[in-house]
Amino acid sequence: MLREILQFGNPILREQCEEVTEFDGKLRELLDDMYDTMLEAEGIGLAAPQIGVLKRVVVIDTGDGRIELVNPVITAMSGKQLEPEGCLSCPGKRGIVQRPMRVRVKAKNRFGKPIKLHGKELLARAFCHEIDHLNGILYEDKVIEWVEDEDEEEED
Ligand code: CO
Repeated sequence: MLREILQFGNPILREQCEEVTEFDGKLRELLDDMYDTMLEAEGIGLAAPQIGVLKRVVVIDTGDGRIELVNPVITAMSGKQLEPEGCLSCPGKRGIVQRPMRVRVKAKNRFGKPIKLHGKELLARAFCHEIDHLNGILYEDKVIEWVEDEDEEEED
């Protein structure tokens, strides 16, 4: 089911999200809805608070398949990148944000099994952007410079 994506300015996006403790059908439905909503909006990442659910849940797909992160934690990062970034909660805008070039993440999958992932470049950026959402942090807080950009295919 498609969900409504909340927009910047909505105070729900500034809330701290709670850890998931129940790995049940409701969580799986949330993950499926988030993924469908993200694809429909042509994004590459979506965090649960963006659809008004204050849980530590993220979906990402940078073109290499669906990634689901429950209770994600960044365990290591290295390097840096300065690239334009967008957000489905703020369509049509992009700004340069500094992110690490490589990121390691530990999380749970939809069944509660521990997983470890690593990403570089765009995926590293997506991990950081989406995990920030779980802590009420928006990329606009970190923008070094706003950019005019016709290319909207990389909206997080
Ligand atoms: Co976002």
